[in-house]
Amino acid sequence: MQVRIEELKKSFAEALALANSQEALEALRIEYLGKKGYVAELMQQLRFAEDKKAAGQLINSLKTYAEGEIEKATEQLRAAAIAAKVRSAKKYNPTLRFAEEQGSYHPITLATREVEEVFISMGFTIENYDEIVDDYKCFEALNIPKHHPARDMQDTYYLDNGQLLKTHTSAAQNYIMKKYGAPLRAIFPGRCFRNESTDACHENTFFQLEGMMIDENISISNLIYFMKTMLSEVFHRDVKVRLRPGFFPFVEPGFELDISCEICGGEGCPSCKNSGWLELCPCGMIHPNVLREGGIDTEKYSGFAFGLGLTRLAMMKYGVKDIRDFNSGNLKALSQFKSI
Ligand code: PHE
Repeated sequence: MQVRIEELKKSFAEALALANSQEALEALRIEYLGKKGYVAELMQQLRFAEDKKAAGQLINSLKTYAEGEIEKATEQLRAAAIAAKVRSAKKYNPTLRFAEEQGSYHPITLATREVEEVFISMGFTIENYDEIVDDYKCFEALNIPKHHPARDMQDTYYLDNGQLLKTHTSAAQNYIMKKYGAPLRAIFPGRCFRNESTDACHENTFFQLEGMMIDENISISNLIYFMKTMLSEVFHRDVKVRLRPGFFPFVEPGFELDISCEICGGEGCPSCKNSGWLELCPCGMIHPNVLREGGIDTEKYSGFAFGLGLTRLAMMKYGVKDIRDFNSGNLKALSQFKSI
């Protein structure tokens, strides 16, 4: 028996050295340790042995030897497979340039940054404000009491707790006045929401960029100067503008600043409702009630505010004919805008 077992151990070791896959190892295990394997066969013969105890121990030594070796080999094969996978994996190379297919900025982002640059150079700070606001910030503080007909123009989405999605960036005016007091120069871009039926120039979600300047002796000529400077910088040329009286409860006097439609060159098209003009920037002198509500001394200070239609501006600047393209997620349309 002893000789037989020595032989089996030797042949096992030889077969093991050749087994280079999990399948080969499993076959080897079955051959030696399986139900009909060598170890089982030896156990059958045990009853014929003279010294059963010694023979049993020998068989057991073969069994534990084979088990241990198979386990070790299985582990080695697994580690080798992982190492091979790691070796073949693509490595991150920090010296490589970015692939050509990098993302692009949304045209609204590009337009925002450009306008921001212009105003930063004129000493304005950029403010951020919430998209969900309360009735006071969006209406009451802006001289629009409950039941004022101006609210009809700005129906929006209400939350169960009475808060609402802001209908205009003017909702930040009160907050910013209280934050800085006078004098102040600030612009605040933001996403706005209205309950609108959509068409080529109306969307329920759009962007505005509001600006406010409060100081001593601020007049309409300051307002006109800043608007003209900003627009000619953004369009890189003189754009045709017109100023019409416009009503907003939070400014007095109030204006509508229109620019000649850049898409049709003023001839009339669906984007400008065939008028040749596009309302771009309502503006006016801040109403004393609004200044007072923001804690500003109206004896000493006055100011102007404007609400630039950022989405419209981006349409004009990039020749986008349909406002719905902006929120469409259509990469073919949106990825054309790569840089400033
Ligand atoms: N908040 C106004 C709107 O969205 C625009 C506006 C802003 C008008 C500032 C005057 C001054 O309709």
